Amino acid sequence: MKRIFSGVQPTGDLHLGNYLGAIRNWVRLQDDYDCLFCVVDMHAITVWQDPAQLTASTREVAAAMLAAGVDPARHIIFNQSQVSGHAELAWILNCVARLGWLNRMTQFKEKAGKHRENASVGLYAYPNLMAADILLYKATHVPVGEDQKQHLELARDIAQKFNSDTGVDLFPIVEPLIFGTATRVMSLRDGTAKMSKSDPSGYSRINMTDSADDIAKKIRKAKTDPEPLPESPAGFEGRPEAANLMGIYAALSDTTIDDVCSRFGGGQFSAFKQDLSDLAVSVLDPIDTEMRRLLADTAYVDGVLRQGAERARALAAPVLREVQDTIGFLHP
Ligand code: TYM
Repeated sequence: MKRIFSGVQPTGDLHLGNYLGAIRNWVRLQDDYDCLFCVVDMHAITVWQDPAQLTASTREVAAAMLAAGVDPARHIIFNQSQVSGHAELAWILNCVARLGWLNRMTQFKEKAGKHRENASVGLYAYPNLMAADILLYKATHVPVGEDQKQHLELARDIAQKFNSDTGVDLFPIVEPLIFGTATRVMSLRDGTAKMSKSDPSGYSRINMTDSADDIAKKIRKAKTDPEPLPESPAGFEGRPEAANLMGIYAALSDTTIDDVCSRFGGGQFSAFKQDLSDLAVSVLDPIDTEMRRLLADTAYVDGVLRQGAERARALAAPVLREVQDTIGFLHP
């Protein structure tokens, strides 16, 4: 059986990178896999979150998954903290992962920055919890954006070490699914920086809930260069903003970068930007409308999360028991 697990943090507005790099791919994979899609609220609190905002963001992320087309009847949508097995397995995996492995995690280095001593222990152990998320369900495939690749390599190392330490072939070695033309969407203000929720400039990203006017304004203001658009991907050399905007166009229109280069190559950014913002609005607007409709009915969204958590607990229980038996924990 092929099983997918993936997650999104409820830490502020979802952006185009989250949509094109992850959520849209999930929707496309749901015919071929059993899927669990998780709002990872326990990961979110590795940095301070306002409690009321965390609750609201948890519902928003769930609504975004539903509005984008994840089917909650066939698949599981839930928030992590409702299934206690994530924390239980994470502790066990804390005892499997090595300090040296975590010390290599670039995301921790970026997030902790110069204030490493002041970062929470949770932020440091974050990748172990992520491994627990996946392994708790023996998921075989994990669709994510490029930035999560290193964390998934760690999850593979942890699974391998657990299996070899115990001599039991318990955990599968997960396969990352990183595909499409937008595995790493870049900032609209700087084509060399990742589009991210934590960028202080709102103009750096397009949020899934932006109005048509906001989208148009942000794309109009997006950084470019004075040259005409490249006629082939070879022309992206030294032009990260052109590469990013044309990559976004290809992803949103479901065509290839080559197609976008042959259609717009040689033209001016101003005309291309107009087409790009019309396209972005046509893709995001229906999702935004549906999200708003869903969020007006929080009882429905909470019900999806509650039922999802119930089903997730049922899948997790036998795996956790197998892990406990394997390592010698006595339990009823
Ligand atoms: P998070 O919440 O940062 O991002 C959610 C998903 O969006 C992708 N993504 C991007 N893709 C392309 N371009 C971008 N600029 C961009 N920014 C974000 C991410 O790769 C991710 O797929 N640690 C994870 C959440 C997590 C998880 C898991 C994922 C927790 N447990 C288990 C998979 C499996 C995170 O912080 O994602």
